[in-house]
Amino acid sequence: MNLKKLSFILGLFIIFSSVVNAQNAQYVGAAKCKMCHNKAEKGEQYNKWLASPHAKAMSVLKGADLKNPKCLKCHSTAAGADQSLVASITVEEGVSCESCHGAGSLYKVATVMKDMKASMAKGLIMPDEKVCKKCHNAESPNFKGFNFKEYAAKIAHKDPTKK
Ligand code: HEC
Ligand code: HEC
Ligand code: HEC
Ligand code: HEC
Repeated sequence: MNLKKLSFILGLFIIFSSVVNAQNAQYVGAAKCKMCHNKAEKGEQYNKWLASPHAKAMSVLKGADLKNPKCLKCHSTAAGADQSLVASITVEEGVSCESCHGAGSLYKVATVMKDMKASMAKGLIMPDEKVCKKCHNAESPNFKGFNFKEYAAKIAHKDPTKK
C-alpha cells in the first residue's frame, strides 16, 4: 500500500470514529453531575433531584417488577437505556438527570459545560414537554394525567443566580 492510500484510509477512519463518538455519549450517573451542580447558592440541583419522586422511582416498584423491563423502561434511566451506553450510572438511582438532560459523558467536561452551544452539540438537552411525555403517558399503569407547567414547577431546580 502506498502512502497516499494509507493516509486516505487513516483519514476516513478518523472521520468515522469522531462521528461514532458524537453519537455514543454514555450515561455517567447523577453522582458525576453532583460534583458541579450541588452548590446551595446556585440552586443545589442534585439535592433537589434526590428529594424528588424521580430519584425514588425504583423504590415504588415491588417484587418481580424490580426486574420487569416493562416497568424499568420508565422507572430507571440506566435500565431503560441502550446497555452499550451504560457507563457509571446505576439502576437504583431511578429517573436520573440524564433521562431529561441527555447522556452526559461528552458534555460533562468543565470546558464544554461552560459553553451552552458546545454542550448541546455534545448531547446536552434542555428538556421540554415532549421529553416528559416519553414517560408521563397513558402507557403508565398509574397515569394521573400530565400538565407540564404544574409538573415542571414541582421538580424545578433553577439556578437563582440566573435571570
Ligand atoms: C466539571 C463540572 C460539571 C459537571 C461534572 C457537570 N456540569 Fe453541568 N454545567 C457546569 C457549568 C460550569 C455550567 C455552566 C452554567 C453554570 O455556571 O452553572 C453547566 C451547565 C449545565 C446546564 C445548563 C444550565 C444553563 O442554563 O446554562 C445543565 C442542564 C447541566 N449543566 C447539566 C449537567 C448534568 C446533567 C451533568 C451530569 C451528567 C452535568 N451538568 C455535569 C459544570 C458541570
Ligand atoms: C410509560 C412509562 C411508565 C411505565 C411503562 C410504567 N410506569 Fe409506573 N409510573 C410512571 C409515571 C410517570 C409515574 C408517576 C405517576 C403520574 O404522575 O402519572 C409512575 C408511578 C408509578 C407508581 C407510584 C404510584 C402512584 O400512585 O404514584 C408505581 C407503584 C408504579 N408506577 C408502578 C409501575 C409498575 C409496576 C410498572 C410495570 C408494570 C410501571 N409502573 C410501568 C411511568 C411508567
Ligand atoms: C425529570 C426531568 C429532569 C431531571 C431528572 C433533571 N432535570 Fe435538570 N432541568 C429539567 C428542566 C425541565 C429544566 C429547565 C429547562 C429550561 O429552563 O429550559 C432543568 C434545568 C436544569 C439546569 C439549569 C438551571 C438554570 O436555572 O439554569 C441544571 C443545571 C440542571 N437542570 C441540572 C440537573 C441535574 C444535575 C440533575 C440531576 C441531579 C437534573 N438536572 C435532573 C429537567 C430535569
Ligand atoms: C424516564 C421517565 C420519566 C421522564 C422522562 C420524566 N418523568 Fe416524571 N416521573 C417518572 C416516574 C417513574 C415517576 C414516579 C416516581 C415515583 O412515584 O416515585 C415520576 C413522577 C413525577 C412527578 C411526581 C408526580 C406525582 O404524582 O406526585 C412529577 C411532578 C414529575 N414526574 C414531573 C416530570 C417532568 C416535569 C418531566 C419532564 C421535564 C418528567 N417528569 C420526566 C418518570 C419520568
